[in-house]
Amino acid sequence: FSVFLTDGFGRRHSYLRISLTEKCNLRCQYCMPGEGVKLTPRAQLLTTSEVLTLARLFVHEGVDKIRLTGGEPLIRPDVLDVIAELRKLEGLRTIAVTTNGMNLARLLPKLKDSGLDLLNISLDSLIPAKFEFIVRRKGFHKVMEGIDLALEMGYNPLKINCVVMRGLNEDEILDFVALTEKKAIEVRFIEYMPFDGNKWNFKKMVSYQEMLDSIKQRWPALEVVPTGHADTAKMYKVPGFAGQVGFISSMSDHFCGSCNRLRLTADGNLKVCLFGNSEVSLRDVLRSGASETELLSIIGASVGRKKKQHAGMFNLSKMKNRPMILIGCASQKP
Ligand code: GTP
Ligand code: 5AD
Ligand code: SF4
Repeated sequence: FSVFLTDGFGRRHSYLRISLTEKCNLRCQYCMPGEGVKLTPRAQLLTTSEVLTLARLFVHEGVDKIRLTGGEPLIRPDVLDVIAELRKLEGLRTIAVTTNGMNLARLLPKLKDSGLDLLNISLDSLIPAKFEFIVRRKGFHKVMEGIDLALEMGYNPLKINCVVMRGLNEDEILDFVALTEKKAIEVRFIEYMPFDGNKWNFKKMVSYQEMLDSIKQRWPALEVVPTGHADTAKMYKVPGFAGQVGFISSMSDHFCGSCNRLRLTADGNLKVCLFGNSEVSLRDVLRSGASETELLSIIGASVGRKKKQHAGMFNLSKMKNRPMILIGCASQKP
């Protein structure tokens, strides 16, 4: 495995998340500051050819999974071409997308033809009016239609990301679990994380232990499902249900020790940790005409500086980072 993608703690980074756009057709409260975000001028965003050049380089060094994120990745006009070009890269085993699902019913057949392997869909409420309140737009039925089509088309696992916020949707946890009785989906409850402008506070966060306890009260037979080494979620299943439920406990029980992820922002920065604020511009290096070797040494230095783990939720909530929409989400924009 490439020395450039291995950090000081021996973690091998074989999973690259590429943000294809800063824009979104929703405006989720936990992701986008109420006043919106200042969008990067177009000339400073990576072009498709730059995205592909960087993807090729990372895959050559050992990346075998690429996830496209945003903003909302499916609003990038040439997303199908990006996927089709990625598909040609030898060594890239998995192409995944994290999406808010708004454009899915329309695009899914073409996404599949282009070579999309895996889909994660954000959905934070099963009540249309509450969905609209959280994402500040209409669209609940479109997202549900996208989920059902993805199931029909055989997407499996099909992961549903649900960010849980106290006082907002924590009363729907059991309803989401009930949804897995008939639907073969993996609902992942995500602990609310602090990002710039999202008004995080500890009281709004529901810990995974608390969620797990309430699910076990209703379904005491809940069973653990084994997961892979670098998976973000702890998974469970109600015996007899078609789907599974899980928890992404980034705040109360982080999984930094097995992190295998790197991020490329839409404006071309390499971000070695979701919560790291030291970024390097690969766009500038590329545009300066640097050789592949120079690029790799800059990438290697950045990966080498990756911290052992994030700073803890209280420190994170005070540190400067980016709003989630400018890191790699799949739900909203100004
Ligand atoms: P899989 O590849 O299907 O395992 O997806 P994923 O969980 O890596 O990605 P997804 O885009 O579905 O993100 C789900 C949640 O996990 C989001 O809230 C992410 O912010 C969080 N997440 C993804 N990667 C990381 C990471 O490197 N560190 C932390 N702490 N959280 C992450
Ligand atoms: N806390 C937890 N998860 C978040 N996401 C976006 N913002 C936050 C946050 N503040 C999730 C979205 C999307 C995934 C990529 O990140 O739900 O599914
Ligand atoms: Fe919501 Fe994601 Fe759009 Fe952010 S990028 S507003 S989390 S859908």
